[in-house]
Amino acid sequence: MSKDAILKIEGKDYNMPIVTGSEGEKGIDIAKLRADTGHITLDPGFGNTGSSESKITFIDGDKGILRYRGYDIEDLAANSRFVEVAYLLIWGELPSQSQLTKFSDMLTDNALIHENLKNHFEGFPWNAHPMAMLSAMINALSCYHPELVDPDNRKEELKVAARLMSKIRTIAAFSYKMSLGEPFTYPDPHRRYVANLLHMMFSVPHQKYEQQPEIAKALDKILMLHADHEQNCSTSTVRIVASAGSNLFSSLSAGVCALWGNLHGGANMGVISMLQKIHEGGLDIKKCIEMAKDRESDFRLMGFGHRVYKNFDPRATILRAHADKVLGILDINDPLLNIARRLEEAALKDSFFIDRKLYPNVDFYSGLIMRAVGIPTDMFTVLFAIGRLPGWIAHWREVNEDPNGRISRPRQIYTGEPQRKYVPIDKR
Ligand code: ACO
Repeated sequence: MSKDAILKIEGKDYNMPIVTGSEGEKGIDIAKLRADTGHITLDPGFGNTGSSESKITFIDGDKGILRYRGYDIEDLAANSRFVEVAYLLIWGELPSQSQLTKFSDMLTDNALIHENLKNHFEGFPWNAHPMAMLSAMINALSCYHPELVDPDNRKEELKVAARLMSKIRTIAAFSYKMSLGEPFTYPDPHRRYVANLLHMMFSVPHQKYEQQPEIAKALDKILMLHADHEQNCSTSTVRIVASAGSNLFSSLSAGVCALWGNLHGGANMGVISMLQKIHEGGLDIKKCIEMAKDRESDFRLMGFGHRVYKNFDPRATILRAHADKVLGILDINDPLLNIARRLEEAALKDSFFIDRKLYPNVDFYSGLIMRAVGIPTDMFTVLFAIGRLPGWIAHWREVNEDPNGRISRPRQIYTGEPQRKYVPIDKR
């Protein structure tokens, strides 16, 4: 039986090889399509387009499966922590104890940023969005580490990854301090990754921030669950920029910008601002559901739906349990959280959402947890970026290691004006 797909164009058959992934996913290799047929494919939003082969993350959106390097996300969430998962994603295998210790030590040793880099913060207005600062500062960081900018300098990769993961956490915390007008809190080498982030964000000179272990654990899970998600918008951005031969810093900086969008990483902020609007406007839950269903209205239920998951988002299932725990521990009575619960319940019973397979996604619960912990809404996407960093680094490496790699350059079907002559300005 033929392993090819056959495409018929104007009576002529063209054979295209079928490619099968290690989990049985099938694709039609159309690399020669244009050369052989003169046609291209048109796939707005790339919903059917595999841009590359990848060994990093597997998702089966219909079954709600997410695996990093072959490990189920539920298994990792139950047994691992963010820093170990970061190592797994970037280097492809779980670390030995000595590898993990070395990596953790590097994270600790690289937490400080150059004092001059701190001056860059002062150039931003006090109300600058932290995602704008994060993207700009990642690029600025490259100027302080020229030795790490050369994409061919592969022997420094462990150092680059650790530096970036550590310093971006410091930059994130400093941008938050900037927005408050508070002095920067320097990293504490005795704290673990997430605890140190919380310390730099919430400690003040006269009072050290001490969080309950369950809080740090829940935030660690948020970072871990966001650590990779194969070819999503920001990761594809990182890969496209990397394909041009751009260094890791500039590729990551572009990834941060893509993540900022409210249909992507910005959705966790969108969830809270939607809940706030519902609360402040005293809106009825039923009415909101009707608005979200109304094709004439541009209101969407933020935190619902996903391009890939058409069953449930496994990350959302894990975070839902953590949300319940964190809210219980903190004994929070937040009206927005009550609205969120009622909205979730109503949407999950509504045929519009059921038929379209629209379930709460990871952003729905991550926003609720971060709000409960006291992380301001503007910082939600920054935390997402910190979490996504290992995935972006892994994908950057994969692009750079691909012997058949080419610069990413999609085509288009032009629908503009046909050729016409220039008209002098007095004749228009
Ligand atoms: N509320 C109401 N209706 C929705 C929603 C929603 N949140 N999401 C999708 N729909 C409807 C669409 O209107 C469409 O209806 P139709 O078939 O009658 O036209 C149908 O469901 C399919 O939606 P698409 O927009 O085609 O789905 P797509 O895969 O392109 O979009 C997306 C996925 C962007 C996540 C979308 O569901 C959405 O906008 N959700 C809200 C934003 C959000 O939560 N984003 C976070 C994504 S997760 C992440 O980035 C980590």
